[in-house]
Amino acid sequence: YVIGVDLGTSAVKILLVNQIGEVVEEVSKPYPLYQEKTGYSEQNPQDWVDQTITGLSDLLQKFTGDAEDIEGISFSGQMHGLVLLDTENEVLRPAILWNDTRTTAECKQIYEQVGEERLLTITKNPALEGFTLPKILWVKKHEPEIFKQAKTFVLPKDYLRYKLTGNIHMDYSDAAGTLLLNVSEKVWSEEICDLVEIDPTLCPPLIEAFDEVGTITAEMAEKTGLSPSTRVFAGGADNACGAIGAGILEDGRTLCSIGTSGVVLSYEKSDDKDFRGKVHYFNHGAPNAYYTMGVTLAAGYSLSWFKDVFAAEESFDDLLADIQTVPVGSKGLLFTPYLVGERTPYADAAIRGSFIGMDGSHRRRDFVRAVLEGITFSLNESIDIFRKNGKQIDTIISIGGGAKNSEWLQIQADIFNAKIIKLASEQGPGMGAAMLAAYGCNWFESLKECADAFLKEEQTVLPKQENVEKYQQLFNIYQEIYPQTKEINE
Ligand code: XUL
Repeated sequence: YVIGVDLGTSAVKILLVNQIGEVVEEVSKPYPLYQEKTGYSEQNPQDWVDQTITGLSDLLQKFTGDAEDIEGISFSGQMHGLVLLDTENEVLRPAILWNDTRTTAECKQIYEQVGEERLLTITKNPALEGFTLPKILWVKKHEPEIFKQAKTFVLPKDYLRYKLTGNIHMDYSDAAGTLLLNVSEKVWSEEICDLVEIDPTLCPPLIEAFDEVGTITAEMAEKTGLSPSTRVFAGGADNACGAIGAGILEDGRTLCSIGTSGVVLSYEKSDDKDFRGKVHYFNHGAPNAYYTMGVTLAAGYSLSWFKDVFAAEESFDDLLADIQTVPVGSKGLLFTPYLVGERTPYADAAIRGSFIGMDGSHRRRDFVRAVLEGITFSLNESIDIFRKNGKQIDTIISIGGGAKNSEWLQIQADIFNAKIIKLASEQGPGMGAAMLAAYGCNWFESLKECADAFLKEEQTVLPKQENVEKYQQLFNIYQEIYPQTKEINE
């Protein structure tokens, strides 16, 4: 057996997986999020550790086998969160999370001190509020007494792994989201550290997501019920692990994940493309690979917003029941899902959404279909950027809410103009973490071989040429909406 620990934003989810990829036991333990002021989002790292210990201990109690049979454990973690440690590796202040947006001034500072060109060349990404470096600079400026005591920084799952093993590391896929990593050369960028005036020794040792980093300490073995000989593997960023857990492990494979927000993530075998920071470009958890990623902030959220406002008493299934009776293009009704601003391709927090093209014959089902189409058009903007930069996108694995409705799967096939695959069971990043442990334990020659053994495809949806053409025309109009409406905000 192997264990995959997914340290998320609202809970830690732990999977016990057997040699054929079945989830044998699973537990989830929540922890609080502190939002003390608008834009602030913090967590107490001790909560992650305590809840993981409780979760592992519950899991081992449910497990009927022998703890010695659990060969390895690995991790997936919420990205970008800053955990500052002192010389004794004690936490100096609450962790500042990926969805904390207090750092607009620090992003500006990074552009001024590093320059956009150098930043994009070295890190392949723009300065966004969510990333780690702006958070480090915020603490340096606003809490100098705390910053003075900082000896190193880590990301959420690195802190958890440190508490389990006693060893401090950060893997490349997570380090890529700090804005301090030279993503191509896989080393910390001393140039950026110098320009923003932080000591490069703050950066922890780098390793691969599948590297072995030690074993469980005697104290943690006692607390969790794990055997002290359990092998521990580094693990990776949740998006990298989500990619592994959905088999995004070769060129041409792309993931479309629709949750509250939506992500389009594509495998990238090299670092040689230049997306000018329009999509994220991070190191993968798989060897010598990268992935590119675009984000639609209000994906599933747009649909749940619509349901709350217009059909609060109904279920999602009822709401979506007759959308297949609505023709492609929702009879001229177009929706843009910018309910909370947008990240890709515009990175504009102020833009707001729209319904355009209403006429008196439109019924609620037309609006519902237009919402699904608008969300999918928004995700297609990321795919469009990938393709315009020479990426081949032919197979898309669809997971999350977007995979639960067969008409929406067809809409994805037709708008993305790609084959859509639905998996028989989706476990998300926790499965990717378990696969890193399975690969680390040499159960398989490669992560790809592990994915072939662990992941089963349930359904394939092919694009219908006639719909593809209609959607292409509508997508051209959709793309005109942002520049024409971007001045409209509160
Ligand atoms: C990625 C990002 C989020 C977090 C969520 O850039 O900010 O997907 O990783 O945990």
